[in-house]
Amino acid sequence: MIPIAKPMMGEEEKRAVLEVLDSGMLAQGPRVEKFEQAFAEMCGVRFAVATSSGTTALHTSLMTHGIGESDEVITSSFTFIASANSILYTGAKPVFVDIDARTYNIDPAKIEAAINNKTKAIMPVHLFGLSCDMGAIMDLVKKHNLILIEDACQSHGATYKGKKVGSFGTGTFSLYPTKNMTSAEGGMITTDDEKFAGECRIIRQHGMRQRYYHDDLGFNFRMSDVHAAIGHEQLKKLPRFNEARQRNAAFLSKHLEGVVVPTVPKGCEHVYHQYTVRVPGGKRDALIEHLKNNGIGCGVYYPVPVHKQNYYLKELGYKQTLPETERASAEVLSLPVHPGLSPADLESIVGAVNEFMAA
Ligand SMILES: Cc1ncc(COP(=O)(O)O)c(C=O)c1O
Repeated sequence: MIPIAKPMMGEEEKRAVLEVLDSGMLAQGPRVEKFEQAFAEMCGVRFAVATSSGTTALHTSLMTHGIGESDEVITSSFTFIASANSILYTGAKPVFVDIDARTYNIDPAKIEAAINNKTKAIMPVHLFGLSCDMGAIMDLVKKHNLILIEDACQSHGATYKGKKVGSFGTGTFSLYPTKNMTSAEGGMITTDDEKFAGECRIIRQHGMRQRYYHDDLGFNFRMSDVHAAIGHEQLKKLPRFNEARQRNAAFLSKHLEGVVVPTVPKGCEHVYHQYTVRVPGGKRDALIEHLKNNGIGCGVYYPVPVHKQNYYLKELGYKQTLPETERASAEVLSLPVHPGLSPADLESIVGAVNEFMAA
């Protein structure tokens, strides 16, 4: 079976974990700080704050920006549920804007119609490893004086016009095992704003400014030194991992037939967290079956958009129609693209897809 995702762990990660275990400093400590500094450098920002997950990185960022009840945050519905749920945690309302059919990212041409006097922030989700159209989004952010929180949970190292995602406003990343780099579980907030970074650190640690004095409501959203040790070693390998993903994606895009391969807009560097094709003619689910029978793992990200999830429909009363989002949910399929693929694996994937689509 060729898996859809495969964490790439080496001797370096194992050694780093053992060093932490031997050091006796298991909770948030010096390895977290080193990892934060290295991550900030990779992202081209001054500060990074490590958290326990991508979800808590989003939640902490929204809270620290003061977003809460009666505020609205514009985002995409074609995403993992955490993007929108993190907005709900603060008491604010996620407002969904439809996607661009070619990139699967939020369509900037449709954002302005969703802005009103309750809109506090825009949360573009750089889906599958591809940056959103940050030129158009930054124009709107400036014009309407909005906060920008990038959900870069799937896009470590991706760029827009040479600038890393996560460096346009407040950046948030996930370090879950299927991501382009991992710390097993973990997250990261990136920012150029020193005061903001400091406030995030306080929220991460139960709102504690001075030991056992709590002026704010915070959480335990810390990362452990064990996780940071893994993450830091993975970060060193991120350029190699991303290059391998790009090579694999280039092979797939060159040889696949009968499906719509990913678009890379001019000026964007795609890091292919997922290699997602569109399967026309209602054949997607039958193709999944065919791939399974041929030992090829694949995945649908995401079969149900957030605004159509039961909780959003039944408990929150969302009634929106987002045509491109809903069409994408019915047609997309992600194929393996991870750095662990061999040339023979890539040939098998292409062979199985082309055979089915030609039939
Ligand atoms: C787009 C997006 N946002 C947020 C998250 C949440 O990250 P985590 O699973 O680390 O909490 C993920 C992770 O899967 C994601 O893909």
